[in-house]
Amino acid sequence: MGIPTETVYGLAANALNPEAVVNIFRIKNRPAFDPLIVHIPDAAAAEQYVTHIPAPAHALMEAFWPGPLTLLLPRRDCIPDLVTSGLPHVGLRVPAHPLTQALLHALPFPLAAPSANPFGYISPTTARHVADQLGNQVPYILDGGPCTIGVESTIVGFDDQEAPVVYRLGGLSVEVLEAVCGPVRLQLNQSSNPAAPGMLAAHYAPRKPLLLGAVPEMLEGLEAQKTAILAFGDTSGLPKVRRVENLSPGGDLSEAAQRLFALLRTLDADPDITAIVAVPLPEVQLGRAINDRLRRAAAPVLLSRKEQVWRALEQVADPEIPVLSVLDLGIVREVSFDAEGNLEVAITPTYSGCPAMKVIEWEILATVRSLGYPHAQVRTVLQPAWTTDWMTPQGKRKLQEYGIAPPGERGRLNRLLFESAAAPACPLCGSTDTNRISEFGSTACKELWRCTACLEPFDYFRCH
Ligand code: TXA
Ligand code: MG
Repeated sequence: MGIPTETVYGLAANALNPEAVVNIFRIKNRPAFDPLIVHIPDAAAAEQYVTHIPAPAHALMEAFWPGPLTLLLPRRDCIPDLVTSGLPHVGLRVPAHPLTQALLHALPFPLAAPSANPFGYISPTTARHVADQLGNQVPYILDGGPCTIGVESTIVGFDDQEAPVVYRLGGLSVEVLEAVCGPVRLQLNQSSNPAAPGMLAAHYAPRKPLLLGAVPEMLEGLEAQKTAILAFGDTSGLPKVRRVENLSPGGDLSEAAQRLFALLRTLDADPDITAIVAVPLPEVQLGRAINDRLRRAAAPVLLSRKEQVWRALEQVADPEIPVLSVLDLGIVREVSFDAEGNLEVAITPTYSGCPAMKVIEWEILATVRSLGYPHAQVRTVLQPAWTTDWMTPQGKRKLQEYGIAPPGERGRLNRLLFESAAAPACPLCGSTDTNRISEFGSTACKELWRCTACLEPFDYFRCH
């Protein structure tokens, strides 16, 4: 059944009965490597399920139970493997919600309960959220009203020295926790082989792309008319978009936590919105847990649109020297978006008449259009003219490895004034004892040289 807690709604089953617990995994579509928190009525009940309670755990139970704190403790055999995914510890928590408190006191067994959302989606903070998503699969939902905290419990385990380790930021802030048990270590991102497996990088995610960061930058490449901003505090300086929702106009972090998941759901369901831009909160108290959820919600996107385009351009090779990308060549001047979200890539040709430029333009268009910008354009910028000084150091290194002597580092003006062309070193043996055979090599931008040491001819990418 669905149960209310002060953090988020849970999907509960008898924790001691694997056949009941397996239904949770089925209904949530949750991978079996992700263990479940076991909910107990009070601290005294913990002894039945764990073999040992470290001293700091006692202090934490005393201070924060009932409340948004889950403790990882060495389990007894009565806890099924399915509940802990075979891990040696069980996560225990005493929830503070009065309805669930009453339920746990009435039941002769503890309740295994993950958040009552389909795996990876936003956690529910009202009974309605649970009903909307899992309603037809869950026989009962206990409606306890909206959750008062709004983000999941903080998960704390203990290392070999019994020092507390925070595995998940949550409704109990690190500052408040440390006031009781002293400094704690954080171990939060365990995406590959997790000890607290729920800490997957992508989680709590709406179906629409969510971008987290400075608003003007995140908005690039998005259509403002179809974008929502999830704001915090003062919104006066925000650019105009379709919709702005404020986690807390007064800048209250507790209020923000409480509203976070419901607002994400609202924006996810708004048919006029295609993307959500979230403003990061101050990295203190509950702000840290909220940012953590937002980062995971943003993980499938993570990069701004602009960054995604730059990354993709790294894959566009120069057709003449395929080891060089257009970025190595230094011919991409700018990646920009207009108000409608149309992408434009500005490039400067290596030299006018270069036969490769048209092909490069096609390649760039094909690449960025396949990223989802069907109307992308390439603009050619002739001023200032390209110079080999724009080639990246990495590009020059790649040239050398490819067997072409890279252009020297001299400033262009220098070269024009003094023509002090020192002989390029042979890219094959490194000797500087080289001489020019022809002013033109395999293409017009190269000269043909020969090494007098190893006798091999080679191309030199002319400095210009
Ligand atoms: O506030 C909460 O903790 C809510 C309410 C319903 O109590 N529950 C919740 O459960 O958030 P869930 O399953 O969505 O997240 C529990 C997290 C998972 O990331 C899981 O990997 C971790 O706790 N966890 C549970 N038992 C664990 C264990 N034995 N060892 C390590 N991590 C554990
Ligand atoms: Mg969850």
